Amino acid sequence: MEKNPVFYKCLGCSGTVMVMDPNRCKAPSIEAIKVSCSGKEMQVLEEQKADFAKEKHVPVVEKVEGGIKVTVGSTPHPMTPEHHIAWIGVQSGDDFMLHHLKPGDKPEAFFPCPNTDVKAYEFCNIHNLWVTR
Ligand SMILES: [Fe+2]
Repeated sequence: MEKNPVFYKCLGCSGTVMVMDPNRCKAPSIEAIKVSCSGKEMQVLEEQKADFAKEKHVPVVEKVEGGIKVTVGSTPHPMTPEHHIAWIGVQSGDDFMLHHLKPGDKPEAFFPCPNTDVKAYEFCNIHNLWVTR
């Protein structure tokens, strides 16, 4: 079982749920962990890393004063009510930080993290979960 958190998406409302430590669960696989929203089973989100589309989703991490900035992506992602980045997260060792975004915000987040050696996550309400590694 993976050590990384696992994310689930509601196919009705696009809400997400994070299972922080699936390796502690006695379920035989990630797929065996069932999470539901309004009585409907949520979809396990696959981590996407390669972004060949015109619109970019892979998070970009850069060192800034006092921490790191994570931007989605190398070409700024749309932030409209219909299509937007809902959250950006970073994992650094045993720490996980999450920043929620809303339509109209910039598709970026600041984290007071001392190093850039992090795994960055972002969730697009249409194109799902993207990671740096
Ligand atoms: Fe998108």
